[in-house]
Amino acid sequence: MGEFVRVCEAAVIPAGHAARVEIGDSAVAVFNVGGQYYALDDTCSHALASLSDGELDPEGCAIECPLHGSRFDLRTGEPLCLPAVDPVRTHEVEMRDGALWVALSPEPA
Ligand code: FES
Repeated sequence: MGEFVRVCEAAVIPAGHAARVEIGDSAVAVFNVGGQYYALDDTCSHALASLSDGELDPEGCAIECPLHGSRFDLRTGEPLCLPAVDPVRTHEVEMRDGALWVALSPEPA
């Protein structure tokens, strides 16, 4: 796991919403599900779509890709339905003094 990097004020991502942030060369989607924050790679594992533009399912704790509709579990990054078959990386998120900090997970081998 990389070092925690401050990405934004928590208030800019209301519950039920997402934001796309950049950490170095990595685009990361940060989601707020009822005050619980999750961070995933923003780019879908199937093709070039931005998961932060997808439809958030707070009850299922999942995000639906806006391009072809694969759903990903926000806790694990695992796809819940086709066409995506590979997971997206998940990243650690911490709240510190009202700001969100994200630590990137390593790239898969
Ligand atoms: S680009 Fe996400 S499911 Fe195809």
